Amino acid sequence: MTDTTLFSTQAIDNIRESQAEWEEGALAAFLKTRPEEKAVYETESGIPLKRIYTAADVADIPAEELGFPGAYPFTRGVYPTMYRGRPWTIRQVAGFGNPEATNQRYKYMIQTGQTGLSTDFDLPTLLGLDSDDPMAFGEVGRVGVAIDTMEDVDRLFDGIDLEKISVSLTINPSAWVVYAMFVAVAEQRGLDLHKLTGTLQADPLKEYVAQKEWIYPVRPAVRLLRDLIMYSAKATPKINPVSLSGYHLSDVGGNALQEIAFTMAFTISYCEEVTKAGMDIDDFAPRLSFFFISHQDFFEQICKFRAARRVYAKIMAERFNAKKPESMRLRVHVQTAAMSLTKVEHHNNLMRTAIQALGAVLGGCQSMHTNGLDEAFAIPTEEAMKLAIRTQQIIREEINVTSVIDPLGGSYFIERLTKDMETEMWKMLDEVQERGGAIQLVEEGWFQQKLADSAYATFKKIDSGEKISVGVNKFADEASSTADVHIHPYDDHCTQLQIDRLKIIRANRDDARIKSLMAELVEQARSDDVNLLPTTIELVKAKATLGEICSALREVWGSYDEPMIV
Ligand code: 3HC
Ligand code: 5AD
Repeated sequence: MTDTTLFSTQAIDNIRESQAEWEEGALAAFLKTRPEEKAVYETESGIPLKRIYTAADVADIPAEELGFPGAYPFTRGVYPTMYRGRPWTIRQVAGFGNPEATNQRYKYMIQTGQTGLSTDFDLPTLLGLDSDDPMAFGEVGRVGVAIDTMEDVDRLFDGIDLEKISVSLTINPSAWVVYAMFVAVAEQRGLDLHKLTGTLQADPLKEYVAQKEWIYPVRPAVRLLRDLIMYSAKATPKINPVSLSGYHLSDVGGNALQEIAFTMAFTISYCEEVTKAGMDIDDFAPRLSFFFISHQDFFEQICKFRAARRVYAKIMAERFNAKKPESMRLRVHVQTAAMSLTKVEHHNNLMRTAIQALGAVLGGCQSMHTNGLDEAFAIPTEEAMKLAIRTQQIIREEINVTSVIDPLGGSYFIERLTKDMETEMWKMLDEVQERGGAIQLVEEGWFQQKLADSAYATFKKIDSGEKISVGVNKFADEASSTADVHIHPYDDHCTQLQIDRLKIIRANRDDARIKSLMAELVEQARSDDVNLLPTTIELVKAKATLGEICSALREVWGSYDEPMIV
């Protein structure tokens, strides 16, 4: 077999000899009087770090493991020209109050240079409750926009050309209803559904494991995603029906390896459900998309993205026998790490976010949200989002990191760490498969336990001072105060406006038609092989509300009780 490693055996032997001489000579002499700071150096996820890397450390990595951008295994990027052809999308999430309030923020951020839209919804919408539900009180429009009917979706995107700008909808348990409203609005506006671009988050397994937003038990929720993926593949072929999310796994304490490996395990389960239902992998995989975090361990994060692209490419090619290159490329939206931001000296969050954003770019992301400096207080103010957008624009326009594709690729350290991370990700993935696969382990609470253990280890490191948070557990300054921080205000009036609108909707619709369609939906939900999207779209067009639709299926499937973890 031809030798395709990066360096000749002789060269490697020479390097190993020279390194041994250096270690026994100059290094040993220096260490005698000036020891290093720490005894152990490792990445955030515990991968040991050597003092120096040489060609000898990458001697076992065949050149084809790197490959080229836009080609299998996509280690160096998902497009042949990457940012030389198109920069990543500046996609700041926004969502609060009534739809008009968020619509105004969208317009401000587009004017400030944002190139993609992203919506966060309030808890009632996420959990399938209307704004007039007693359980919704106090949460309407608080952490996201309030959406009850398709008219709210129309207001949300008022004056925005949905054929021109992509829209990300961060909606999970009720995703299929919001998708139905989005399609209904597009049709009402006479748009070409084949030109709609955007993404729904819609990934239920990570909700049971991390974000904790659910309505139904696990398997019905997975069925809803299966229906959404299959319906969207035909009706809205440029929409990404799911954004498989590792971000939240990290937010609850998962390390970089768990973030990718567990997300890939969820991906395998969803692909199995859709192919089992008869759709060919290449007919939906090109529209699978991903959402990861860019965290503090700079080089580990860059290698995380590179290793993730290789793992995903191999899963799709080898496990699912995908043939289209678009089925094997891991397209990623990245959000910088909210959990790394502090209330104390909150201006420091600008620097943290800028460094994390640079990591995401050097890691080859396709779309990015940079967090606001006021992250630890509330959802971001307009000023915080302007600074966040400027952060991305400075990286893109001022520091020349977009001219060369995968600029850190080929570094002895980067390639070794990428390979080591890939190896660890496969070990975790294999363990999940050996234990019965992701859906069963979610039901058993296995992932939840793993993430809780990781979170405990991290917070112990912060408490002991091993993990530094500048201004918090090192260089703390009692004088610094949070008194002058301006935070986004909650609109106490938004609830009443939503309630008034619901009254008008309910008084002016064909209740008999809704009743008949709802009975049809309930009947369809009782069998596993009917796609629920067509009837759901008819229901939202008939002005059925999100809460009414979600409640009807709660009658069929019940709700979910979380397993106890210690
Ligand atoms: N040359 C030519 N064309 C190029 C190119 C290049 N160099 N680079 C990109 N393009 C093309 C692409 O091919 C694509 O066209 P296509 O769709 O026809 O293939 C188009 O330009 C757009 O490029 P991308 O698709 O790469 O970029 P997008 O920004 O449109 O999409 C994504 C990125 C990751 C695929 C998509 O799924 C996305 O936008 N995801 C966002 C998810 C999101 O916003 N999540 C927010 C979560 S917030 C949250 O959860 C809050 C809290 O709860 C955590
Ligand atoms: N507006 C802006 N950012 C939000 N996030 C969540 N909800 C909103 C919102 N309505 C972001 C924050 C949070 C992360 C989960 O997503 O950064 O930490």
